[in-house]
Amino acid sequence: MGDIQEKFSKKFSGYPKVYRSPARINIIGEHVDYLGGLVLPAAIQFSTDLAMLPNSSNRYRIYSVHYDSLVEVETLSKQSDQKWANYILGVIDELKKEGYIFGGFDLVVDGNIPQGSGLSSSASLEVGVCFAISDCFKLGIPREKIAVIGQRAENNFVGTKCGIMDQFIISVGKQDMCILLDTETLSYSYTQLDMEGYEFYLVNSHVKHSLETSAYNQRRAECESAFRKLQTHFKNAKNLYSINQNEINFLDFQFTAEEHKRLKHVFGEKDRTREIIKAFSEKRMVDAAGILSRTHDSLSQLFEVSCEEIDFLQSTLLSLGVLGARMIGGGFGGCILVLDSINNRNSIEENVKKKYYEKYKIETEFYSFTISDGVNSVNKI
Ligand code: GLA
Repeated sequence: MGDIQEKFSKKFSGYPKVYRSPARINIIGEHVDYLGGLVLPAAIQFSTDLAMLPNSSNRYRIYSVHYDSLVEVETLSKQSDQKWANYILGVIDELKKEGYIFGGFDLVVDGNIPQGSGLSSSASLEVGVCFAISDCFKLGIPREKIAVIGQRAENNFVGTKCGIMDQFIISVGKQDMCILLDTETLSYSYTQLDMEGYEFYLVNSHVKHSLETSAYNQRRAECESAFRKLQTHFKNAKNLYSINQNEINFLDFQFTAEEHKRLKHVFGEKDRTREIIKAFSEKRMVDAAGILSRTHDSLSQLFEVSCEEIDFLQSTLLSLGVLGARMIGGGFGGCILVLDSINNRNSIEENVKKKYYEKYKIETEFYSFTISDGVNSVNKI
């Protein structure tokens, strides 16, 4: 952490407070967190590091180490042409809209979350900034509210109509724990998986296709239009996820082909979530891993948010004997989450890298991770 303070003093003066905001994985419940679904995410140790100090002015001076770029803003009338800065300006904007009063600050942002990897570097930044402002200006914002402010920043200022999952787990995460979050009510519980003999790890495809935001918003819009059609019959349904698919006669609703596929993913994911929770509780890890692979197939074929490289990597992993693997996050590239017996990885890693490189001329990376706490202050000056 000394490191980020040094970086701060190269740009600004004074002694900042330092914060660390994690990345996240999600075990199951993909593309259901904007439909009132259940998700099972955990915070992991990759992080955004932030150093912040109020500057007794109305100016926000923010510096990104990664982009080596300084942005200075006084009024938040429009988006910055520095895309990274909009995640921060969006948080300031949402806090002001909520009536919070705070002055200008100097901020340095650094970190080691691989960008575009599906590990949610953007939510990590939003939550980190919101937590830092709340702490530096003694606003006392509860963690659950910090998550909502972060999501709104991304929805309204950045323009991605993301759900609440990423910001929520990054705000409330606890070491060694996943949360089971109901994204309709935002009620959640902590749960620890017994991983004895098994492990999760990540494989980064190092591809990120640029249609990410537009396609994400489009998928959400398709689900919402399908829900509007269903509401003509299920008048009291509070969200799409709550509808019982066995009560739907699909022919009655004139769904488009896309809507039909999206619905099949959402209802399938609901069943898989129930199944995997049971499998984990009964320590049937092989079954749990198989469910992850089924989620991958559904995301690829029905929700259509995977891509060629990710599908190749996932099927290569399975063909080499891993128990289960799936893409995670919004899609169109990023990381694959693997669940396998421990000690298997060494024997396949080189082979996967070789096959992927031969086909796409792109290097993959394998990451171990630990489940970490949510956003926190870390400095003791
Ligand atoms: C992204 C979004 C989340 C969620 C996932 C897919 O990570 O930020 O809200 O929708 O995609 O599950």
